[in-house]
Amino acid sequence: MITIKNEKEIKILEIGGKILGTILAKLGNSVRVGTRVGDLEELAEKLILEAGGLPSFKNYGDDDPYPCTLCASVNDGVVHCIPDDTILKDGDIIGLDIGMKYPQTDEGLYTDCAITVPVGNISKDASELMDVTKGALNKAISIIRPGIYVNEIGEAIEDYVNSKGKYGIVKELVGHGVGYAVHEAPHIPNYRIGFKGEMLKSGMVLAIEPMINLGVSAIKSDKNGWNIKTQDGSLSAHFEHTIVVTNNGCKILTQA
Ligand code: MF3
Ligand code: CO
Repeated sequence: MITIKNEKEIKILEIGGKILGTILAKLGNSVRVGTRVGDLEELAEKLILEAGGLPSFKNYGDDDPYPCTLCASVNDGVVHCIPDDTILKDGDIIGLDIGMKYPQTDEGLYTDCAITVPVGNISKDASELMDVTKGALNKAISIIRPGIYVNEIGEAIEDYVNSKGKYGIVKELVGHGVGYAVHEAPHIPNYRIGFKGEMLKSGMVLAIEPMINLGVSAIKSDKNGWNIKTQDGSLSAHFEHTIVVTNNGCKILTQA
């Protein structure tokens, strides 16, 4: 079942989403050649707490919870990479993914967003990969309205990406409902699923998040179980927004 948020909840999500989008933009703008990835984690946590929110990824998961506020996925890192002592170098790309519960009280609701940013001067391939991934997110957002089915989002992303060249669309990880929790139903694959899936209705809150690779779509995880990388070592990009379905379309909640 996909939950429907009421007007009051949507107001809270709008406020939290805008704060989170602004924090993410700040993190993106602070990326330089020579930045230590762990410093971005510290900044992310400080900005969320100062804004009156709580990091929603930190301690998320039952067995082996995610340990950080930020996911920071460099180059062949797809998503969920744990910030560490890596020093960013010229030509790298880094995916920054962050989630927040806002406000910190029982009324708090969750939003989630991600960007991939360049470090110094990047290759044409890397820059095109980022454009295609961001373009895929925008394409999906442009078709979302009440009455469409989940599969149409995947179709729009798959067709858009394929029209831009030969890229690998990550299959094992998908977008999702969000709001009362970090992850809610439904799954929102970034490709055709072969059946319609659920119909969207006004008040649904969704995280749309294409993950696109320069090489094959296959991924692997590091020994720590969190860091997801491309299987072939090729670059990967990730962009994500939390949106709310409105009466005639959708509204991005995590815009800076
Ligand atoms: N945006 C990612 C997702 O929806 C980040 C989740 S990180 C986790 O999967 F630690 F919370 F799992
Ligand atoms: Co997400």
